[in-house]
Amino acid sequence: MNLSKKEIVDILKSPDMDIFNEADTIRKKYVGDGVHLRGLIEFSNICKCNCLYCGLQSSNKFVKRYRLSKIDIIDIVKKGVEEGFKTIVLQSGEDEFYSTKLLCEIISEIKNFNVALTLSIGEKSFEDYKAFKDAGADRYLLRIETTDENLYKKMHPNADFENRKRCLYDLKRLGYETGTGCLVGLPGQSVESLADDILFFKELNADMVGIGPFIPHPDTPLNKEISGDLNLAIKVMAITRVLLKDINIPATTAMESLNPNGRLLALQSGANVVMPNLTDELHKEMYEIYPNKVSINKLDLEKRLKTINRYIVLDSFGFRNH
Ligand code: 5AD
Repeated sequence: MNLSKKEIVDILKSPDMDIFNEADTIRKKYVGDGVHLRGLIEFSNICKCNCLYCGLQSSNKFVKRYRLSKIDIIDIVKKGVEEGFKTIVLQSGEDEFYSTKLLCEIISEIKNFNVALTLSIGEKSFEDYKAFKDAGADRYLLRIETTDENLYKKMHPNADFENRKRCLYDLKRLGYETGTGCLVGLPGQSVESLADDILFFKELNADMVGIGPFIPHPDTPLNKEISGDLNLAIKVMAITRVLLKDINIPATTAMESLNPNGRLLALQSGANVVMPNLTDELHKEMYEIYPNKVSINKLDLEKRLKTINRYIVLDSFGFRNH
């Protein structure tokens, strides 16, 4: 299906919720009732960026910073694999301590466990992305955050919107399953720009799209702002499902953090992926992108999925179209 920008804006502005059911039907038809799990490892909260909304921004002096060693990371991977995870996601701030060589070593050691590997480590050069791919990385997550260039500039001091887009197109060109996404409810963000975000996901032909409501962090300059609207965030996600059909869409932690039922609502409105956090308790707490980040474990999730007639899939890597 194709929707024009105006049609998307109309859906976003209307109180009508039909799009949620439509997205649920399309999700069922194209990717089924199975919910894929991705085991997330937050291996460093050190970041050179200063994104206004993010609790890990470089100017936040209250954060206790940490980085995990290769051995620590592999230990967590081992536990995840024992629990049955078939995809590992390595996420960190933009931390230059991890050289391309070190990252490639970590990637190839993880690939020895016969898992799919997703990286989420920010903006890099084409050569770096190629080296990670050659070392075995399968997927890459890099949210565009917002396609409104003025807002992008305000939210990301010293960052370059064109470079972010370049990264995403490089990742696609290198054959990564490429994930992007946006924040919903940034101060000054318009509904029109959310429609542009959705059209951007389509133009990129993103393989994965993660959408989350903005949640103000007390130690950032946006601490007086209000949270994004969960319903609107789910709507952006639902329209994305309707337009991109067979992609992977996570029910994001930020949705659950705003509402104890957020994740299930998302799974009933187009989402088919959940990303449980495998990071140990101590470091998980220190990876505070936004406050009250909730965790979910596999057993709880399994029980809750049963109530909506869905189930966990652990016997596949969960690639798009597989
Ligand atoms: N609220 C919600 N999501 C946030 N992110 C960063 N800061 C916040 C916040 N305050 C999201 C960004 C980033 C992802 C890892 O976390 O979209 O890409």
